[in-house]
Amino acid sequence: MKDLAKEIGSIKRLFAQALDTAKTPHELEKIRINFLGRQGSIASLIAQLKNLSVEEKRTVGPLLNELKTFAQQAYEKKEQKLKHANIKQKQLQQKHFDVTTSKYNELRGTQHIYTQVIEELENIFISMGYDIADGPEVETDYYNFGAVNIPADHPARDAHDTFWIEQNNMLLRTHTSSIQARIMEKKKPPIAVFSPGRVYRSEATDASHDFLFTQAECLLIDKNISISHLLATARTFLQAIFEKKDLQIRVRPGFFPFVEPGLEIDGSCPFCTDGCSVCKHTTWIELLGSGLVHPNVLKSGGIDPDIYSGFAFGLGIERIAMIKYGINDIRLFHSSKISFLDQF
Ligand code: FA5
Repeated sequence: MKDLAKEIGSIKRLFAQALDTAKTPHELEKIRINFLGRQGSIASLIAQLKNLSVEEKRTVGPLLNELKTFAQQAYEKKEQKLKHANIKQKQLQQKHFDVTTSKYNELRGTQHIYTQVIEELENIFISMGYDIADGPEVETDYYNFGAVNIPADHPARDAHDTFWIEQNNMLLRTHTSSIQARIMEKKKPPIAVFSPGRVYRSEATDASHDFLFTQAECLLIDKNISISHLLATARTFLQAIFEKKDLQIRVRPGFFPFVEPGLEIDGSCPFCTDGCSVCKHTTWIELLGSGLVHPNVLKSGGIDPDIYSGFAFGLGIERIAMIKYGINDIRLFHSSKISFLDQF
């Protein structure tokens, strides 16, 4: 009986030691099988009880019971402790999980720079109450030239080196002014439209000229529209696109057959006050061709010039983007060079 009591004591010590050193659920499970399992050491001690006398059972029985209860409770306590430690460890790992460590250099597309500038311009004009309009790039001679007061023998056609299409009177539009008559045919005044789009000119390319580029047309027609409406609108949109509240404009006479009078609008350089490379040391930058819509153009669109008047201006989108972002060659826009496109 003495031996059994001794054995109970030594199993209790061994069990406590094993529990103390267990670090993982796997180690804990092994302890459960070895000590608390059906074939475990506590079960084999209990099995020996039947060989003892009633007197001995009275002494050893409570010791065994106490061992069993102690082992069960200590085991459960340890099990909880390991579970908590495990959760804490996971939380710690998540906290320090660095999402950038396994990042590989994936090439991601973005909007093309001129799409970005077009959207910016559209938002500025929408905020001033304008509609956005589109027109066909393959156009008729009539809408590109005739309807905007450029008759067949007019010398202004020479300035628009045209890509003709082998089909009667069809061409690739040379300017977005081609939308003017189309809009007037569809809408009656008041008309306030901003129309960006691709245009084509059969001319030699250099750093500031391309054969394919993007223009935008601004057209406003209503009663009593004057040059002051044109100048206020031009100044407001240039200040917004160049994010410069004190940007000033100046006007010079200009000739376009579809406006009378015609004006060239320059903006004060957004980058300097005393001359820099962007403004070629003049402090002014040529930005818009503009004027009051010619009465002949209003008539072509079915609008009575004795009742209505309007202004129009046109701009080169790439030119605006080049000034805004310091781009020195217009040909980069269509070069598909990732190193260029990636910057925007
Ligand atoms: C026109 O095309 C007129 N339709 C603009 C206009 C509209 C005037 C309404 C009056 C009223 P122009 O040919 O100057 O005008 O072209 C307008 C802008 O397009 C220029 O200021 C320039 O920024 C851009 N541009 C002209 N030719 C090229 C080219 N080859 N490459 C890149 N941009 C060009």
